[in-house]
Amino acid sequence: MLVMKGIVKQFPGVRALDGVDLDVRAGEVHCLLGQNGAGKSTLIKVLAGVHQPDEGTIVFNGEQVRPSSPIDAIKLGFATIYQELDLVDGLSVAENIFLGHEHATFGFVNRAAARKAAREVLERLGHAEIRPSAEVGRLSPAAKQVVSMARALSHDARLIIMDEPSAALAHDEVANLFRIIRELTAQGVAVVYISHRLEEIREIGDRVTVLKDGRTVAVGLSARDTPTTQIVSLMTGRNVEYVFPPRGGRTLGEEVLRVEGLSAPGVFRDVSFSVRAGEIVGLAGLVGSGRSEILEAVYGARHAAGRVLLDGRPVRRGVVGTVRHGMGLAPEERKAQALILDQSVTANITLGTLPEFARFGWIDRKRERSEAKRLSEMLDIRPPDPERAIRTLSGGNQQKAVLARWLLGGRKLLLLDEPTRGVDVGARAELYAVIHDLAERGIGVLLVSSEVPEVLGLADRVLVLREGAVIHEGDAAELDEHAVLDMIMNGRAA
Ligand SMILES: Nc1ncnc2c1ncn2[C@@H]1O[C@H](COP(=O)(O)OP(=O)(O)OP(=O)(O)O)[C@@H](O)[C@H]1O
Ligand SMILES: [Mg+2]
Repeated sequence: MLVMKGIVKQFPGVRALDGVDLDVRAGEVHCLLGQNGAGKSTLIKVLAGVHQPDEGTIVFNGEQVRPSSPIDAIKLGFATIYQELDLVDGLSVAENIFLGHEHATFGFVNRAAARKAAREVLERLGHAEIRPSAEVGRLSPAAKQVVSMARALSHDARLIIMDEPSAALAHDEVANLFRIIRELTAQGVAVVYISHRLEEIREIGDRVTVLKDGRTVAVGLSARDTPTTQIVSLMTGRNVEYVFPPRGGRTLGEEVLRVEGLSAPGVFRDVSFSVRAGEIVGLAGLVGSGRSEILEAVYGARHAAGRVLLDGRPVRRGVVGTVRHGMGLAPEERKAQALILDQSVTANITLGTLPEFARFGWIDRKRERSEAKRLSEMLDIRPPDPERAIRTLSGGNQQKAVLARWLLGGRKLLLLDEPTRGVDVGARAELYAVIHDLAERGIGVLLVSSEVPEVLGLADRVLVLREGAVIHEGDAAELDEHAVLDMIMNGRAA
């Protein structure tokens, strides 16, 4: 159906694509793998008409094509779900879905038609609860992802490109996404699927193409039969142990965080727990179970009844106050909440920690830079140029910069919301080691992740949340993935 050959894309100072080949068959799920910065998003943006390639050819259903704009790509039958959601926050769900469609321009009468059509697509996606008239800016990241998907489906595309669609989704929502993908491919639609979760590739993928440093290093491997070790070594050029650091060996210190009876109406209720120095506590639960909101309340960025004590002292609300209290929050929606896109990598890493670099009233720029450099090297942020604008980094590398910020400086408690979202397997292993290392140095860690194996692999103790309430608390070593999933999905206690 689609043959891309010798695609080259040069950005100032970076050859993002250096002769990439890709061929996709009708009715297949073709997975595109590669480390952060390998060129995956750039390649699909060439297909989507966002970037014009410098060299190379694209043949679609036997004809040479050259998508010159996003609208042009849609007309060709390509629909794209981007890694960084490109919805318009101020518009409604229905307006976003039909942006660029004829419905959108017909005014009054067709607004009703558009809402009806939007409702149908949302229902098909299993998300009837998202109202077509709701303002997109008020939706959760997961709901935004659904709207983005609805928009792709509304175009009757022949080729749907999904750039890390599952990154914002919880377990049951991923299952729903896969159901839709299977429906589409059964109708002959081709899907190009990008993900850093290798288990997903096995489950949904037919064939795999691996990119490394802007080049195709493997074409059309079997998604089911190729050993993970082979895929990982193709991606990274080395053998990575995709494992968690060994548990135990850490001595737990005093209690650093105590949360008592935390409640916010309709969001979470009566949540109590504590985190000791050197301890990693994981929150498991579905999107919407209140996990991120609990983190925000602990941080002081969200109103809640109850008490939050850090080192035995009550935490006052307001973000500035909590930074001084020694807490760091790595938020879920990094682009909106955490990055200043036009500033450099260094500036983004040191943002919010500036007081630590202030000596006698001025900022120690040299130390700021050297610390930022050390952390970018530790997390392998690419390209290794701390003065580059963060906007031009790949999605996963931006995520690493957000994390680097919170690893900087002397914090007592680290709040991590989906720390490995969009981070490739190689860097993941390093990130796990860094988190463990911090705990070993006596920092308390409160971790939220949609990936149950990650919570179980990293945390010492796990709280299972369902509909805003803690339904289980226990040692991670005594739980397995199945038991946790059963609790978060069915509410069954262990
Ligand atoms: N607009 C841009 N200007 C300059 N460089 C860019 C731009 N967009 C991407 N790049 C660079 O091109 C390379 C490929 O980036 P791309 O976003 O395609 O990676 P990716 O494989 O999607 O990674 P990830 O898994 O982190 O999303 C990176 O080195 C990135 O920094
Ligand atoms: Mg990308």
